[in-house]
Amino acid sequence: MIRDGRVKLNGRTVTAMGTKVNPREDIVSVDNRRIRMKTAHRYLLLHKPAGYLTTRKDPFGRPTVFELLPAFTDQHLFYVGRLDFDTEGVLFMTSDGELASRLMHPRYQVEKSYLALTRGVIPARKLKYFRDGMVLGQEKTAPARAAIRQVNKQENTTWLSITVHEGKKRQIKRMCQQIGHPVLYLKRVSFASLGVGNLPPGSFRPLNRDEVQELYHRVGLQAPFSQNSC
Ligand code: URA
Repeated sequence: MIRDGRVKLNGRTVTAMGTKVNPREDIVSVDNRRIRMKTAHRYLLLHKPAGYLTTRKDPFGRPTVFELLPAFTDQHLFYVGRLDFDTEGVLFMTSDGELASRLMHPRYQVEKSYLALTRGVIPARKLKYFRDGMVLGQEKTAPARAAIRQVNKQENTTWLSITVHEGKKRQIKRMCQQIGHPVLYLKRVSFASLGVGNLPPGSFRPLNRDEVQELYHRVGLQAPFSQNSC
């Protein structure tokens, strides 16, 4: 096409083979029709360790989750569902704004599951507060699933698993506090269909095509026709 003089770069016919373009700034056309690049979004699963803030930049200079990732200078990454400084676990990150906002929208009821170590021995009857929903400040939580995993009477602690489909601020800690059992340790074990698996804390991996497709389907979107795997 270049040899035939059909390609233009910023309005001028390209003559040199191997001419490089900047797809963000340059206008490329073939037969006077503009060519647009389909953006290959990034879809990452980070195993967030404790001691990192889920924010782009902290005014006090504390470590942020972005410091655990290589500098993806080409794309802006969104985190989907913040985790507290001291919370570990699954943090999904993507440059795909539409997918990110749908995954956070209450309409799609995306499930997040947590494992919490709480102070005190929780009696089974108290689990009903999670199932019925409880009032936190001005809001009521939606019904959640909760189960006691392990009780340690000697240490006076309970391991609890909780699944919610909302993302209220510090929701799990506030719910546990509300029933009189403050959280000592918290991990998000899954977000939608994503779990950390064998991923060591502080590491990340790109999602594979099936995982991306599954997230798309969950929020009623058609998976992108062309995407790379990272
Ligand atoms: N709920 C919390 O209380 N903290 C988190 O980090 C995530 C959910």
